[in-house]
Amino acid sequence: MSIASVCFVMPTYNEAENIAPMLRQLLAIFDGLEPVRARVLVVDDESPDGTADIVNEIAQGDGRVLLLSGSKQGLGSAYTRGFEYVLDHLDVDAIVQMDADFSHAPTDAPRLIEGLTDADVVIGSRYVAGGEVDASWGQGRRLLSYLGNLFARYVAGIYRVRDCTAGFKAIRTAALRRAFPLRLRVQGYVFQVALLHALMISKARIREIPIRFTDRRQGETKLGRRDLFEFFIHMWWLRLLSRKTFVKFALTGMSGVVVNLSCFQSLFVLGVNPYLCSAIAIEASIVWNFFVNNYWTFRDRTMTGRKRVRGLKFNLVSLVTLAVSFATFVLLRWLFPEEPHVMAQAIAILPAAMANYFANSYWTFRADEV
Ligand code: GDD
Ligand code: MN
Repeated sequence: MSIASVCFVMPTYNEAENIAPMLRQLLAIFDGLEPVRARVLVVDDESPDGTADIVNEIAQGDGRVLLLSGSKQGLGSAYTRGFEYVLDHLDVDAIVQMDADFSHAPTDAPRLIEGLTDADVVIGSRYVAGGEVDASWGQGRRLLSYLGNLFARYVAGIYRVRDCTAGFKAIRTAALRRAFPLRLRVQGYVFQVALLHALMISKARIREIPIRFTDRRQGETKLGRRDLFEFFIHMWWLRLLSRKTFVKFALTGMSGVVVNLSCFQSLFVLGVNPYLCSAIAIEASIVWNFFVNNYWTFRDRTMTGRKRVRGLKFNLVSLVTLAVSFATFVLLRWLFPEEPHVMAQAIAILPAAMANYFANSYWTFRADEV
């Protein structure tokens, strides 16, 4: 699907010198660019230098400019508010994040949007072939950017992306909704990586295209100590987060074993036929696991699909798991006939649990595609 309408989300804090020429240049580019309809939402945090007044004045004469004001909590909070507003009130195909200080060239914006033709996210990247950072960006800032990307890639696990901290991105609205960015719970600059991570785990198609990042001409950076602290802690949190679901899933599975065996035993003691006991016990543990996974393990995922359908899928996956486990058991018996039966049965749990996890995570409890 091609892109017909976009909204730039541009955070500002003390950008009085930059905002007017920025809006003028950016919108002039889209004046002649059919058929993309562009709007700009400026998210200002009551900048003491009066940025908002300038934006208001421009907005009076140009309906494409919108202003959202709030109190200063950080870049991430500003973006979160801006995105929330666009998703709730504007019907656009894509959102473009962009700085107001000319570090991101307005002339690069159309290329980013064009890139969405075969991607959900297009990153204006400094670190792919052809991309670069202006010579005036100091050594300290370069090192920080290098470390930030190193952590984002190897700690948070966004291996495939070169410029994970980039602040110039075009994102399809549908992909943004899928990634539920509103639950990122970050305040500062780490937002860029947290958002990218959420997009990655919701399976967005991510592309990088080279840009030249110029140092700001006016004013100064708002990146502070607080942002750095939050950044490096959050990288470890993102790492944990992707494992957290798996750990919860494993714990649920273990509780399911308890349900299975106690159900089997109780029925058996009551004199029920052991084969029937086995079948009932297995189904009981499947139903148990389903509810725990639905209301606990995967509760953060936005799923509007019917619960009964998910329950059915879960049961189907359980059958496949059964097959994997049984095949492994048979294979191990054939390879190692001397070893005890129960050993083969225990080892077979591993591939079965992996298959079960992936099938349920990517199919049964898959997050919504909006
Ligand atoms: N509303 C609001 N609130 N805007 C903010 C805030 C805030 O707390 N902090 C910064 N901004 C705005 C600035 O006014 C500017 O338009 C934009 O966000 C980027 O801020 P800069 O302070 O210029 O960031 P930078 O140049 O140091 O960092 C750039 O590069 C980083 C990667 O190296 C940005 O693009 C970052 O997003 C990026 O991670
Ligand atoms: Mn800047």
